[in-house]
Amino acid sequence: MVEPSAVQVAVIVALFSSVLLSSAMNSTEDFNASNLQRPEAGLCAQLIEPSGFPCSEHKTLTKDGFILGIQRVSSNSGNFRRQRGPPVLLIHGLFVAGDAWFLDTPNQSLGFILANRDFDVWVGNVRGTRWSQSHVSLSEKDREFWDWSWQELALYDLTEMIRYVYSVTNSRVFIVGHSQGTIISLAAFTQPDIVEMVGAAALLCPITYLKHITARLPLKLVKMHLDQVMLEMGIHRLNFKSDWGTLIMDVMCNGHVDCEDLLTSVTGKNCWFNSSRIDFYLEYEPHPSSTKNLNHLFQMIREGTFAMYDYGMWKNLKHYGQLKPPKFDLSRIPSSLPLWMGYGGNDALADVTDLQHTLKELQSKPDLLYLENYGHLDFLLSTRSKEDVYDRMLAYFNSLGTYSYD
Ligand SMILES: *[C@@H]1O[C@H](CO)[C@@H](O)[C@H](O)[C@H]1NC(C)=O
Ligand SMILES: *[C@@H]1O[C@H](CO)[C@@H](O)[C@H](O)[C@H]1NC(C)=O
Ligand SMILES: *[C@@H]1O[C@H](CO)[C@@H](O)[C@H](O)[C@H]1NC(C)=O
Ligand SMILES: *[C@@H]1O[C@H](CO)[C@@H](O)[C@H](O)[C@H]1NC(C)=O
Repeated sequence: MVEPSAVQVAVIVALFSSVLLSSAMNSTEDFNASNLQRPEAGLCAQLIEPSGFPCSEHKTLTKDGFILGIQRVSSNSGNFRRQRGPPVLLIHGLFVAGDAWFLDTPNQSLGFILANRDFDVWVGNVRGTRWSQSHVSLSEKDREFWDWSWQELALYDLTEMIRYVYSVTNSRVFIVGHSQGTIISLAAFTQPDIVEMVGAAALLCPITYLKHITARLPLKLVKMHLDQVMLEMGIHRLNFKSDWGTLIMDVMCNGHVDCEDLLTSVTGKNCWFNSSRIDFYLEYEPHPSSTKNLNHLFQMIREGTFAMYDYGMWKNLKHYGQLKPPKFDLSRIPSSLPLWMGYGGNDALADVTDLQHTLKELQSKPDLLYLENYGHLDFLLSTRSKEDVYDRMLAYFNSLGTYSYD
């Protein structure tokens, strides 16, 4: 096998980085780095309060020392006599953060819609994203700071966020997840002490198995073992907002590679995505993640399993006391947990065949919403998802009858 050169690897990393939202990135001048990092201003101040929604910043600490930022958002109606509805915790996907739920207008974005319907909205941000980028003893420059995958996001970050919201509100928490947010939700729900704090869950583009993904670019990168090459090169943090990341994305998008095409090759075709808002999205996305996380996701594609991180036989023995990493057993999710799932026929990541596999292993029969022409991002950033998706999700939450909203 011919080893790819560092430059080739860098170019491929940049390609992959286009993963979510960089499709129309045009020139470095368009890309104003000073808008990205105003550390003094949190997510509330930057994005949520300017739309007129009351928002407060919270912090909580994971078992392994990460300090997570969480935001609490309420209705902008100003009618404080109305009782707050049930707490709902929003769990974002890979390479994005809690801001992703607020990037379209208040009438289009799920975070604002839930707040306006009197839900007590809590916005989760996993470790490594710009809203959760500190640790009690490690610096983000340390290799150990990036030594985690979605397994830790499920068992430490999500667990801690649920516990925090549960303890502040004294109420079972509704969960809404998208993409990687659904992987970590379903993994966490297999843990009895966590799921007992959850009232219901709505999963957009639900993923556990990744055996049948059809997205062209990720499959190519999996085949090239890009994840392993990068780890061997000592690249532990995936940060596409770094100077080199910006530069390379810029070169790719001005050069012969068509950026819109790239986005499609990563996520599948997105029909209702408003591409004239991409510059705005790019002020917030993409957020960093770890190479080990990418490695874990690629293991799922290669091995077809929904299991803990595979360290290789001998190290697995040390970590888990067995040669193969333990599987997350979906049948341990109690059938009493109300589940709702929205999925799309154009989604090249959350494949329908893989979802069938997930459904077969669950004890319960989730309520399903299938939208044939919806792609992976349409469930999050779309001009029509209020009517197509969110209204139905809300009707489901209403049907549970535990709470009344009006
Ligand atoms: C990209 O740059 C070209 C030339 O400067 C311009 O015509 C086009 O509108 C730009 N596209 C976006 C999405 O900014
Ligand atoms: C970048 O954004 C900052 C703050 O919004 C602004 O002051 C500055 O002029 C911008 N720079 C460019 C090159 O657009
Ligand atoms: C948002 O929706 C409300 C209620 O449906 C409507 O009255 C309002 O005009 C909408 N706002 C915008 C900016 O579309
Ligand atoms: C798409 O985004 C542009 C720019 O923000 C906005 O003016 C337009 O109204 C959006 N289209 C829809 C259908 O929401």
